[in-house]
This record gives sequence, structure tokens and C-alpha cells, in this order.
Amino acid sequence: MADKIKLFVNGEEVEVEKGKNLVDAVGAVGIEIPHLCYHPALGADGNCRMCLVGLEEGGPPLVPACKTPAQEGMKVLLDAEHIRKIQHDVMEFELINHPIDCPVCDQAGECKLQDYYMSYDQKESRMTVPQVTKNKKMDFGGGIIHDQERCIICGRCVRFLRQITKTGELGIINRTDTTRVNIFPGRPINNRYGVNVVDLCPVGAMTSTDFRFKQRVWFLKKALGICHGCSKGCNISVDHNKEKGKDDIIYRFRPRLNEQVNGYFICDDGRLSYKSENEDRLIAARHGKNERALSDVLTVCAKEIDKSAKTAILISPDATLEQMVVVKALAEKLSASLSGFSDGYILDGDGDDYLIQDDKAANRAGLALLGIDTDKATFESNLKEADLFINFGNDLNLSYELSAINNLMGDTKTITCATHDNEYVAQASITLPIASYSEYSGCIINCDNILQQFGKAITKNNELLAICQIAAQLGSPLQRPEEVYAELQQKIGALKEFQPANIPAEGLNLNDSEGANVTA
Ligand code: SF4
Ligand code: SF4
Ligand code: FES
Repeated sequence: MADKIKLFVNGEEVEVEKGKNLVDAVGAVGIEIPHLCYHPALGADGNCRMCLVGLEEGGPPLVPACKTPAQEGMKVLLDAEHIRKIQHDVMEFELINHPIDCPVCDQAGECKLQDYYMSYDQKESRMTVPQVTKNKKMDFGGGIIHDQERCIICGRCVRFLRQITKTGELGIINRTDTTRVNIFPGRPINNRYGVNVVDLCPVGAMTSTDFRFKQRVWFLKKALGICHGCSKGCNISVDHNKEKGKDDIIYRFRPRLNEQVNGYFICDDGRLSYKSENEDRLIAARHGKNERALSDVLTVCAKEIDKSAKTAILISPDATLEQMVVVKALAEKLSASLSGFSDGYILDGDGDDYLIQDDKAANRAGLALLGIDTDKATFESNLKEADLFINFGNDLNLSYELSAINNLMGDTKTITCATHDNEYVAQASITLPIASYSEYSGCIINCDNILQQFGKAITKNNELLAICQIAAQLGSPLQRPEEVYAELQQKIGALKEFQPANIPAEGLNLNDSEGANVTA
């Protein structure tokens, strides 16, 4: 628990966290100090002066709140007339050459300049000379378009590329109204985290080539998600919209703060991974090559399971803990072998020492915690002995060439549950479409042993069953969500004190928990 101190804002006593600057300290108790250049991940630069506040007694009369530590007994003035005048003057200064093209600006609706104009300014322009015009569309590379006219030279983008990625592709050049943010000649933005500058930019001066002009942000619903692009499990906002007469579509993933996992940022691959939630989805059940009603295909599956003398089951390392435990119960009931083999999900050397991991599986730690074997030789020998193979969402394409899969399968009947259609899936004796991670809720454990929960983000017109429901229909004894969760609580000691509704938002660090033992 952080130490607290008491100070006064506009004469009202407030208790705030010690060791923070005034912007963050009083912001945490719901009092906004407007700021443009400051960002908690980048520190204070002090260049915009939007955050100037008054101090009564014991200090200079005016201080930048972003550079001023909150101190016991401090008397901070925000609503005094001279502070309001400063805020208005700074806004007027920022807007002198601003194009005010909000109707065509992607940032409209989540723009600090727009918000602060409405809150602190609302004055007509006094400019009588023509505005300085600048370049409206500069391709900075890395999926980023820059509009120099909208730029307020806060420097956040420049500092991000210097401090966080340490690639330094951007600089600020020239002085006064010829000041510009720019790349160095012939050296575009080229790193795996570059698009974070779009989120960092407080105005619409940095836009993403992928998102610009696709949707007005006020139409987007925002759901709390976790990226499944690798084992880091970065926290994201799943921004989606269901337009009249159309399906629920995801338009972008954006980073969501989790100090314990990803901080404020995500990687560009993870950001763009929303596309595969929309595209190339398997949506119809098939018996052989023929599309059939799901209920009919499930009946065929039940008959194949009854006939089978030896079944091998494979589960995806992206599956949630709930899905894994339901499939494990099915395997035990059928006396089937169960594997989580997924070597192909690991790309040796692809990760870095920041967020990106070699392992592209979202919940490999869950396999280990539930005692599900992942050894290749064991998986292959079980498969050779089996007359029925059920695959719950594991993309074997990543681990084998198609010809090698065919050799391994031989004449074995296959029931393949998959989110996406591909050559491997097309060969299955029976194919069952399943929901992908934005369409169900559940828990996963990341590479740092942090258990996180995510909710169902979108609802498709054609709602697909998730692995839990398919496994339950194929005979898993764990049928209801309460039974599934109770089983997890029994297997994962750390979950005993937690109901799904009260798992901490920042995740449960199983390294800290003595109860993280497993009885699997
Ligand atoms: S592009 Fe955006 S983040 Fe960069 S300096 Fe300009 S306003 Fe700030
Ligand atoms: S680092 Fe991994 S989890 Fe994080 S955004 Fe990138 S792919 Fe997703
Ligand atoms: S936010 Fe403090 S000077 Fe810019």
C-alpha cells in the first residue's frame, strides 16, 4: 500500500499518493489538471505550460504541475482567475496555427485539444493574419501518417522513440512557427512498437494508416481484452462496432494500462492481430467436404467417439484455463491421451527484452499448471496408436508441413475444432467451427506467471460455440460454468479466494501466491 499525504486543492483537503507529481497525484482522486506534453510513461518535459497551477504559501506562485512533486500540506490553486487566464492563453497559443479540421480528423472524439478547448477556452480566434500552412500528409513509415499542421510540438512521439524503443527516428527541427516534427531524410520509423506514437499523440497529428478514416471513434464500443499474439498477454481495448444490418466487427486493438504486464504500450503485430479475428474464419460445420448443420455433425462426432477404441486429444496452448480443464475432464472420461504439443508456436529469437516473446501461445503456462503434457514424441506416439484424433483449436500447421501432418495421421479419423479455415483444417473427417478469443471470456496465464481474466468482447450474428461448450457436448463431465470454475479452484490453489468477478484487474501474480500449487 503506497504512503499517503494530505494536501489542499482549491481549499479542499484531499489525500493523495506520495511520490507522484501533482498531475498524477490529484488526477488519481478525480481532479483534472490539464496537460499536453506530460505522459506518465515518458516523464515530464515541461514544454507546453498547459499544466501551470498556483501555489499558495511557501513556493513560487506558479508551477508546472507535471514537474512538481505532491507534498504534504501543499495548497494548490486551480480555479483562480489568473490560472484560468493562463489555461485560456496557452490554448489560444496552441490554436493559432491549428487547422481545426476536426470534422475530418481521426482524433476527433478523443482529442485533448478539442476537450481542453471545450473545458478551458471556448473563445473565438483573434487571428487576423493567414495561418501558417504546413504538410498535411507525411508518410513517416511504420504505418504512421503525420499531419504537421495539427502538431502542437509536445514532443511525446520524439521522446517515446528515444526513451522506450531507443530507435530515435523522430526529431524536432527549426524554431518558432517553422518548428516541425520530422523523420531524418531516408530513415522512416522502423521498429516493432512505432504505432504507439499514434496513441501517445494528444491531437490528430499522428494517425495510423490501418485505422484512419475507417470509423468515427464515438461509434466504437470498447471492451477489455487481452492480446493473444504472444505469451506476454498485453492488456488491450477491443474497439468494435456493429453497424445496422452488418456483423459485429473489430476495428482496432489499442493498449490498455496494466503496470504489472505491459505498462502503457503494445507491439505493432499485436495491435494488428485484430484482423485475424475478423478474417478467414471457419463458420460452418462440415462432415467431410460437405457443410452440415452443427447438431447433425455433433451427432456424427458422438458416434465416432463411441466407436473409437483409442482416442488422442490435442488442445491449443491459446485455450483458456477453463477450456483446458473441460477438455482434460473429457480426455479422462474417454481414457484418451491429452497433449498440448505446440512447438510451432515458438519462434526462437523473435522476442525482445521488452514485450514481444518468442512464444506466440497465450496460455502455455496454463498447460503446465494443469499438468498437460507438451512433449512432441509422446504426442506423435499417442497419435500413431489412436483411431480417432480430436483437435481442440491447435494450429498444427505451425508445427508441421502439411505432408508431415498427413503422414502422421495415416487413416486416423479426425475431428478438428478450429477458428480459421486452412489447408490442414480442410482435410479433417469432421470439422467444427469454434469461437475465437474475442467471442468468449476466460482466464489465461502469461509468461511471467500472471493469471489474467478477459471478458467476451463481441457478439457475432452467427455465434459459434467455444471449446468449453463443444467439449461438454462431446461428453465432458464439466457441463456448467460453475462446475468448471470449481474444478479450477480445486486445481489452482491461488484461485480459492477469488470468484471470477473479483480477480484483480491487473491480474493475479501466481509467483506471489503460495496457493498456486496444483493437484492436476
Ligand atoms: S506529432 Fe503529436 S506527439 Fe508528436 S510532437 Fe506533434 S503533437 Fe506531440
Ligand atoms: S507483445 Fe505479445 S501480447 Fe503484447 S501486444 Fe505484442 S503480440 Fe500482443
Ligand atoms: S504538461 Fe506540464 S508543461 Fe506540459
